[in-house]
Amino acid sequence: MRDLVEYATRDGVGVITLNNPPVNALGAGVRQGVADLVERARADGGVQAIVLTGAGRCFCGGADIREFGQPPIPPSLPEVIDIIESCPKPVVAALHGVAYGGGFELPLGCHFRIAAPSARVALPEVTLGLIPGAGGTQRLPRLIGVEAAVGVILSGKPVAATSALSMGIVDEIVDGDLVDAAIAFALACADKEGPPTRVRDLEVAEPEPGFFEDGRKKIARRARGLIAPWHCIESIENTTKLPFDEGLKKERALFLECRESEQSKGQRHIFFAEREAAKIPDVPRDTPALAIQSVAVIGCGTMGAGIAMCVADAGIPVRILETDADVLEKGLARITKSCEGSVKRGRLSEADKDACLGLIQGVTDIADIKDADIVIEAVFEDLDLKKEIFAKLDTVCRPGAILATNTSTLDVNEIAAVTNRAEQVIGTHFFSPADIMRLVEIVRGAETSAQTIATVMAMARRLKKVGVLVGTCDGFVGNRMYHHYTRQAHFLLEEGALPSQVDKVIYDFGFAMGPFAVGDVAGLDVSWRIRQRRAETRPADERYSPIADRLCEMGRFGQKTRAGWYAYEDGSRAPIADAVVEDVILGVSKELGFDRRAIDNDEIQERCLYTLINEGAKILDEGLALRSSDIDVIWIYGYGFPAHRGGPMFYADQVGLKTVYEALCRLAEVHGDLFVPSPLLERLALEAKGFKDL
Ligand code: COA
Repeated sequence: MRDLVEYATRDGVGVITLNNPPVNALGAGVRQGVADLVERARADGGVQAIVLTGAGRCFCGGADIREFGQPPIPPSLPEVIDIIESCPKPVVAALHGVAYGGGFELPLGCHFRIAAPSARVALPEVTLGLIPGAGGTQRLPRLIGVEAAVGVILSGKPVAATSALSMGIVDEIVDGDLVDAAIAFALACADKEGPPTRVRDLEVAEPEPGFFEDGRKKIARRARGLIAPWHCIESIENTTKLPFDEGLKKERALFLECRESEQSKGQRHIFFAEREAAKIPDVPRDTPALAIQSVAVIGCGTMGAGIAMCVADAGIPVRILETDADVLEKGLARITKSCEGSVKRGRLSEADKDACLGLIQGVTDIADIKDADIVIEAVFEDLDLKKEIFAKLDTVCRPGAILATNTSTLDVNEIAAVTNRAEQVIGTHFFSPADIMRLVEIVRGAETSAQTIATVMAMARRLKKVGVLVGTCDGFVGNRMYHHYTRQAHFLLEEGALPSQVDKVIYDFGFAMGPFAVGDVAGLDVSWRIRQRRAETRPADERYSPIADRLCEMGRFGQKTRAGWYAYEDGSRAPIADAVVEDVILGVSKELGFDRRAIDNDEIQERCLYTLINEGAKILDEGLALRSSDIDVIWIYGYGFPAHRGGPMFYADQVGLKTVYEALCRLAEVHGDLFVPSPLLERLALEAKGFKDL
């Protein structure tokens, strides 16, 4: 059997190499291997120093997240790090690629750290609902100061090698062979007098008075309802109050509390769900993807411009086709402005902005996009218009080019049918703003080929998006569920609630905004048009709330008209409850014969979320999502579902499907068919199973 950790001696240096592909995660076997080999090198009189390095693409991706939730297996990571740190021979960590989480805490326990230019260190635990639990919160502040450590630990973001050097995290950056350099470095350290310096012994510089209080204020909104960010701050603050060993003990206790929390389980679920979404049973990983060297985007509106920006940002040349020269010019100006804004906010360097803009070219003639490897159509949501464009693209574009439609609701099969290349037609549903939102629903038509899917999934990854494959139906997965969620919110208004109450319940659940505030940002006219299109096919006896239509008829389209579900003052995005809206709501309640009542917050939460979950179950039953965790990924990355709740389907499992089922049955008795549990939900609930068991 292959050794998870390898050992060799070279020039009197013991070289310990983590070898646990793909990311050298620190599972039990690796921990034991490191502990044993450090002891061996320590005991070997012929060894003067030790180098710790990683084989393959990185130093180490951290603790094995799959072990969390399992009974612990000794030695623990803090124990292994203690063995390293107390070794009287100098231990040098040689870092390349990522050194994340425990994979960074391990080098912090070493006496020196050198790095290849590719190295990136991070403590991303907070993104998994955790705090660094192997000394990270105690050693990093001692090494780089409390202020800088708070930045690294609370953001969870990677620090590149050059910054790590200037912050004092690494001692040297080396070009050339990393292990050779580490051996030379270790021998030079071994020559020095006395035991090597341990990070635990460094003094902590007192931060500015009020530093931690300010830090807590800064994260108050972002970290509302969360445990981990607050525990991170508390543990870092302990470095200024407690001796190292006590701080370490406290850190472990805080870590264990986080690890056992529902929040961390939800966030860990999303970590794996995101990676699982890339796996498509009938499109194996080795399906050859086409090379995408040039992209064309059709339409230079908000969506088209946003998509073009992320394509260019990924270094791919992109042509935007807009037949109206004026519209094109305005669109390109918007792109320039948006990139300049990113420079101002520090998200983009001046050089990267220039490179990005240099890759975007506006064209007005369809013949200019004939050589593109993929065309992404992002025009107005109108089936006839899209069909017309696809028929034309099919004749103009080179054979083999992929034709993608950025529709959010329309039937990809109908669009594919007007071409002679249905196997190369696919949906790419980006979310607005496309350069920010990470989700792309990749919509497979009946004839879309495996190669087309593999190519578009790979392109999504290159654009730093999370691509989730879905089937074709009205609204696909996300919007179809969203429709049911918002519809419930509207019914609640008819029965007695007001927008601010519903929004507050959803905000308190953890969403960034409630459905009405979101509507005002997105523009109420968009969903109005969709409702008008659906009106023809809506069953006459289906419950329908006219409140949103009434607001649109009054020209209240949301923030862009400074009036929607709320009123907005000039230049402000802060929603203000509006008596006009309340009048409309009360008027509709009366017309429809509702006796308005006080609706409690639990009812609002249950009705909005359980209908969402019920629709998700129907989607699974119809095979439109591959797995329940794909639905969770869609909702986290496309709709702002709180990550610490793990997505709607994971949340339902946590609540218990029996509870969800019984609540839906109760609601169906009062409100009728809209709440009838889906057969899948019913079956799972009666079998005492969860979506996770599918
Ligand atoms: N524990 C267990 N499995 C891990 C892991 C970890 N810490 N880090 C990565 N993996 C697994 C992934 O699940 C994936 O498995 P799969 O191929 O079966 O889907 C595989 O390793 C490759 O990971 P992936 O993320 O696809 O590769 P990448 O090269 O894009 O990114 C990392 C590598 C390490 C940067 C990224 O995986 C990561 O951020 N990992 C988590 C780091 C972390 O938070 N560590 C602290 C844990 S407390």
